[in-house]
Amino acid sequence: MNKALHVAIIMDGNGRWAESKKQKRVKGHEQGAKAVREITKFCATHKDIERLTLYAFSTENWKRPRLEVEFLMKLLEKYLKNELEVYIKNNIRFEPIGDIRAFSASLQKLIKEVKQKTAHCDGLVQSLALNYGSHDEILRAVNKLRHEKKDITNEMLSNALDCKHQVDIMIRTGGDQRISNFLLWQLSYAELFFTDTLWPDFHEDELTDILNEFGKRERRFGGLN
Ligand code: IPE
Ligand code: IPE
Ligand code: MG
Repeated sequence: MNKALHVAIIMDGNGRWAESKKQKRVKGHEQGAKAVREITKFCATHKDIERLTLYAFSTENWKRPRLEVEFLMKLLEKYLKNELEVYIKNNIRFEPIGDIRAFSASLQKLIKEVKQKTAHCDGLVQSLALNYGSHDEILRAVNKLRHEKKDITNEMLSNALDCKHQVDIMIRTGGDQRISNFLLWQLSYAELFFTDTLWPDFHEDELTDILNEFGKRERRFGGLN
């Protein structure tokens, strides 16, 4: 197996998880944050995984009720404050993607601080996609490059994106089979896995099964094997 896998996850199903237990949707987000910690720690110790990119808040999620959005912002703040120690202890580098300028000044400061304080860690790279949308990411990249005198190459565009790394394994929990504006450029040859498991119920054993299944797939990248 490739020693430097990039795993990306659309962590979906928090709301339904809570509703199925007759709880408020936000309880599902709280439980979802625990799953983020478990899966991140597991990936940090896995010999084949180099990067873990997790879709936490999309550019479209602002459409949700104000109270849910506010709760998610507070949860992110709490998560990052708690997690800094966990990141450092487990040698995890935090590299957020997305346009965080839409967040409050204090949350932006915290995100930058965690990024900077884990910059020396050279184990797993955990990227949280925060106010992330692939269209927005590509447009920001194109705008950065628009004054270039020469033609834009694949490498130039890749390097101008927030996430500069192609994905090997894309997992979506929660039963829906769509991409929801996640890493459209980077998913070009990713192996896709969809599971009905709701994100708070997704544990390392299921990720292990997916990694085993991935190991059996034949990736041809358009060529012949
Ligand atoms: C994913 O869970 C988390 C975020 C989008 C923030 P959802 O909140 O979308 O949960 P469902 O899909 O409604 O169950
Ligand atoms: C995708 O889930 C975004 C995140 C997991 C952060 P959504 O619940 O927002 O996606 P749709 O609306 O079902 O496509
Ligand atoms: Mg959803």
